[in-house]
Amino acid sequence: IHIDWNEKAAEKGGFPHFMLKEIFEEPEVLRNALAGRIKNGRANLPEMENVVPAIKRARNVHIVACGTSFHAGLVLKRFLEDYAGLTVEIDVASEFRYRNIHIDENTIVIAVSQSGETADTLEGVRRVKVKGGTVIAVTNVVGSTLARESDVVVYLNAGPEIGVAATKTYVSQLAVLFIIGAYISHLRNEKDEIRQIINELEGMPTIFEGTLSTMNESILQLAKEYYQYRHFMYIGRGYGYPTALEGALKLKEISYIHASAYQAGELKHGPIALLDREFPVFAIVPDDALKAKVLSNIMETRARDAKVVAICTEGDQETGRIVNSRIEVPRVSDPLYPLVMSPYLQLFAYHIAVLRGNDPDKPRNLAKSVTVE
Ligand code: AGP
Repeated sequence: IHIDWNEKAAEKGGFPHFMLKEIFEEPEVLRNALAGRIKNGRANLPEMENVVPAIKRARNVHIVACGTSFHAGLVLKRFLEDYAGLTVEIDVASEFRYRNIHIDENTIVIAVSQSGETADTLEGVRRVKVKGGTVIAVTNVVGSTLARESDVVVYLNAGPEIGVAATKTYVSQLAVLFIIGAYISHLRNEKDEIRQIINELEGMPTIFEGTLSTMNESILQLAKEYYQYRHFMYIGRGYGYPTALEGALKLKEISYIHASAYQAGELKHGPIALLDREFPVFAIVPDDALKAKVLSNIMETRARDAKVVAICTEGDQETGRIVNSRIEVPRVSDPLYPLVMSPYLQLFAYHIAVLRGNDPDKPRNLAKSVTVE
């Protein structure tokens, strides 16, 4: 018998690319991110104990990160504003490190970096430490520079990610940041809805498990309709905006299609001028308080002949009636939509990249971790 085998194929566990393998690991990755971190319906983070006094007295909270980690940070910003009653600033690290912002012992900085080695994020953290602020690091890499230089570290426990485009680590970042958000909210000003969100978060690995295989097939079909376009505009509002940014980043990184993301309410202020039948739109439509607004923004794009793909909640006929194609996700509490929608957007980018003949694991011009400025 001749058995065709090579080490690389074996590492991919039967998947054609690491990226697809890593997306399929997401249920497990979520389980690991949450393991031991929910107790009696509450966030349980013993590693954060040292910074409890700093959290209680904090006057300024900043989030610092780059790329995909920045998008996860945007979700946390909104979560802390909604549930902890905090006003939170967020910056990409390359801007943060050169801003003259006031930092003192009442400042908390949450630094998010999968690798823990991103140069700009590290420099931002060093500035905060010099000025007496407290740094909470969220990273996947044990013993990374970020982990060593921060006051406390909360690990993602996602295992190594080989694909250059972050996939499984993004979903683990979101899960861990929700736990951190709930932990901070508890110390500051907990709202009742948090218990419900934590409860749903615990069920997320099972939801992912139940939907991944079937969604993969339907997203492949959708990708076949769209892979030849040269542009894509992602739009969203509220918690849907970070999802739009992350969907667009994933698509441009590996398919090399020009993709941009806008807050849907900004369309009329300029970007809508770009749209025509050659410029499709990917609309993020969670069933939240802003849904009606997003639907009216979609109508504006349709009036320019743009084709629209929407990602919306199961059974959402209202959205279905006005778009060309739709992807449905289970109904969840508002902050959890970015999590439940992630794998669909990742798979969409993946299949488009493969259909265009690209290697999604090794996108041109990109490194897994950006260790220089
Ligand atoms: C994600 O797909 C990217 N490759 C990139 O944006 C990445 O998220 C960014 O460089 C930040 O990396 P970090 O999380 O390791 O700091």
